[in-house]
Amino acid sequence: MTTAHRRALTGIKPTGTPHWGNYFGMIRPALELAEVTQEAFYFIADYHALTTVRDRVALRRDSLEIAAVYLACGLDPERIVLFRQSDVPEVCELSWILSCVTGIGLVERAHAYKDARAQGKDVNFGVVTYPVLMAADILLYDTEIVPVGKDQVQHLEMARDMAGYFNQQFLGETGYDEQGRWDGKGLRRPESLVRETTATVPGTDGQKMSKSYDNVVPIFASKAEMKKRIMSIVTDSTPLEAPKDPTTCNVFALYRLIASPAECEALAARYRGGNFGYGHAKLALLDKALEVFGPMQERYDAFIADPAALEAILLRGATRARAVATPVIERVRAAVGLPIHKAGLAHG
Ligand code: ADP
Ligand code: TRP
Repeated sequence: MTTAHRRALTGIKPTGTPHWGNYFGMIRPALELAEVTQEAFYFIADYHALTTVRDRVALRRDSLEIAAVYLACGLDPERIVLFRQSDVPEVCELSWILSCVTGIGLVERAHAYKDARAQGKDVNFGVVTYPVLMAADILLYDTEIVPVGKDQVQHLEMARDMAGYFNQQFLGETGYDEQGRWDGKGLRRPESLVRETTATVPGTDGQKMSKSYDNVVPIFASKAEMKKRIMSIVTDSTPLEAPKDPTTCNVFALYRLIASPAECEALAARYRGGNFGYGHAKLALLDKALEVFGPMQERYDAFIADPAALEAILLRGATRARAVATPVIERVRAAVGLPIHKAGLAHG
């Protein structure tokens, strides 16, 4: 199946400042994907953030910040439906229904939950049901493809499983024919889309870039902050004069993400030629980053300065998202035997 004429959907949690891992691993591929799909629904996962966030001001601010990031990175709100998860609260209803068809063993296998338990953390129930709410996010919109980083693939598998459990338990069928065509009666199985080239963006210490490891380079930051982060990238101790291998260098790994193939060739040649230190490579990376992210930074600042405009974009997105979600939740209610009160459901 091709990606054309399909609905793509993805979410990002409004926790912390978005970084290059988010941009190259998720935001940029999602925006590229939206160019070739018929529909794209991208949302800010503020319900999911509640497993950790305890600051209402920060939640609101960070949600708007993510909207500004998407828009600054080129998201056209006319083409792409940009919305806030909690503006379509039907997702919580679907999450509950899915939790009733999902065995506890499935959620206990989730990496995030297992890691938290292994670290002896006292996890809240939201962490346990996180994959169920995420499945509801996806299934509520009959989503066909979900662009995500590699770390989310397990959650996608779970969403596919949950669609299957629902169809099987409430409709007594898989919902798919032999050719893999969906019958439109139950829930649709999504597919994940992971770009292998950017599946894991390394952080300044070489392990996966993540806000949990404090090894991030922010997408939007002052030049001084950007420089500080880039200069802190860990490299080996090959002396300045010696030829270097670009393929094992964290600086080069990040450069490859933003520079053109010709620029990468040129930088690789300088690595191999010797008399080119990691400090030089870091400055080349900084220059390229400022060139690429500079214009986006200006757009970002303009959006951040106008929260009312951001709110208006999100609310319009929510109205469009809800127009798709309403018939799906009605289909679900009908399948399970819950009443459908058309007027009652058509709120907002
Ligand atoms: P973090 O690890 O900083 O908490 P999130 O889990 O909020 O980031 O990730 C948001 C999105 O960005 C997800 O789709 C995730 O797969 C992607 N992503 C995050 N970090 C990376 C990375 N280092 N490489 C590739 N994709 C990433
Ligand atoms: N769990 C995702 C993350 O941590 C965010 C997310 C929530 C999501 N719901 C989603 C991603 C639905 C894709 C589809 O990054």
